[in-house]
Amino acid sequence: MSEILEMLIRRGFLWQSFEIYGGMAGFIDYGPLGNGLRRRLENLWREFFVVNERAVEIDTPTVGIEEVYIASGHATSFTDVAIECKKCGKVYRADHYIKEVLGLEVDESVEAIRDILSEFDLKCDCGGEFGEPAQFNLMFETRIGPGKGKRGYLRPETAQGIFIAFKRLADYFRDKLPFGVAQIGRSYRNEISPRQGVIRLREFNQAELEYFINPRNKRHPEFDRYRNVKVKLVDKSDAEYEIALGDAVEKGIILHEVIAYFIAKTREFLLKAGIDENRLRFRQHKDDERAHYASDCWDAEVYTAYGWIEVVGIADRGCYDLSRHAKFSGEDMSIFVPFKEPVKVKKKVIIPNMSKLGPIFRHKAKKVAEALKSMEAEESIVVEVDGEKIEVPPECYTIEEVEEIQHGEKIVPHVIEPSFGLDRITYAILEHSFDTDIVDGEERKVLRLKRWIAPVQVAVLPLLSRDPFTEKAKEITELLKKRGIFTEYDDSGSIGRRYRRYDEIGTPFCITVDHQTFDDNSVTIRDRDTTSQVRIGLGELVDVLLELLNSEKDIREFGEVFRD
Ligand code: GLY
Repeated sequence: MSEILEMLIRRGFLWQSFEIYGGMAGFIDYGPLGNGLRRRLENLWREFFVVNERAVEIDTPTVGIEEVYIASGHATSFTDVAIECKKCGKVYRADHYIKEVLGLEVDESVEAIRDILSEFDLKCDCGGEFGEPAQFNLMFETRIGPGKGKRGYLRPETAQGIFIAFKRLADYFRDKLPFGVAQIGRSYRNEISPRQGVIRLREFNQAELEYFINPRNKRHPEFDRYRNVKVKLVDKSDAEYEIALGDAVEKGIILHEVIAYFIAKTREFLLKAGIDENRLRFRQHKDDERAHYASDCWDAEVYTAYGWIEVVGIADRGCYDLSRHAKFSGEDMSIFVPFKEPVKVKKKVIIPNMSKLGPIFRHKAKKVAEALKSMEAEESIVVEVDGEKIEVPPECYTIEEVEEIQHGEKIVPHVIEPSFGLDRITYAILEHSFDTDIVDGEERKVLRLKRWIAPVQVAVLPLLSRDPFTEKAKEITELLKKRGIFTEYDDSGSIGRRYRRYDEIGTPFCITVDHQTFDDNSVTIRDRDTTSQVRIGLGELVDVLLELLNSEKDIREFGEVFRD
């Protein structure tokens, strides 16, 4: 096990789920520190993608009825190809096994996998032969209600809960585009053989923003803020660029401004969360790699011990989802977009001739006439009345050209989706923050987490584990907690050992109550990264800490240096 994983387990960040029963691949428990870190990450995400966007957050069920996933295409297209060994029964995800054993990237089709198996005579680890490759649907199926019940699925993405509530959401936003709708929560994918520890999970945490735009305007009003920001891009033909985002849009490397805007915002968020800029890039999906709903997609990838891993996908889903749900539910998912100025348009309209319609269609004639009036003029006129398709003979109507004033048009919005894998980001932050250095002649392990994301922000330590040191330290702990600072009290072990413990879990500041505290009402603040300490009066402690925790300021600006 790597040094970092060993530390994360020992210190209470991440544990194997179901450990006492032998565990199960694809599931993890967040211990107290991992849970705290992920919660802080979620709040930072909210600040970026909800509070500071024209966006709201909703919360919808994690169990979905099958209609949703038939319409979304997941019931048929959300699959990977599996291969099963005829001898030992082990099942592999075919493309991963082929990459691992042969180093080849393959198309994820049954035919392509079958060809590779026979061309390379590929065998299982145990030497056994593989059976026929087969598509395996990644959704967990369930039954809703007793007995046979109704078929349902655990959601494979939070997004669908947003799409199916679109009519309510459009109403909430008074039909004014663009607007964003976010959801943070668990999603589920029954991965075939997850072998990458915390990276490929069967139950995982997503933060998704569905940003609805007018397809006629793929610009973002705030893009100017990011036009000159340089990013590392790898496009779908593997060409690499270090390029300003404005130039990337102008050169057509990135399809439009809204995708570029979210690439910039994602980069800003990941850096603020503690991802190392040198281990971050954006990679465009190749044509055969995109999900069934996406017309373009860029992944934010970070470099970790597992290689480059996708942590965010930024996809242009077009009108795919809304159109599919409109078709399958029969509901109108369009919104009316007014024009800036009304426009005059020439239009051909159908005028029914009742004296001809009556004898032919009798009691249905009125309904046929109504249907005719509501349609556009076409070559042959077929109307639908009470579910029946009826061809109307030409003598039953005339076509006239009229001029009409139009005030707007109905459109089905397009969706740009930045989708974040919070578990992978949490892990990558931990890996990128992990460091060792030499302090007082000894190697020290230190987690250089950003101050605003650390699960324990301040530790209050009595120099000696007896009164009045302990009593004063507990009093200070309560004071800091009341002001919203994540604080721990600790009086076990030598002060040096306690400093090392808090360095290792990434606590930015340790407050120590020492002898001088009782002379002049002051304490020391120790900075995790530099190990410098300053003395500061208790009266200003809270304000100083709040300022330090929301910035990267040096503690030496705030008090008399006690130890450097
Ligand atoms: N909503 C995109 C994904 O879950 O991959």
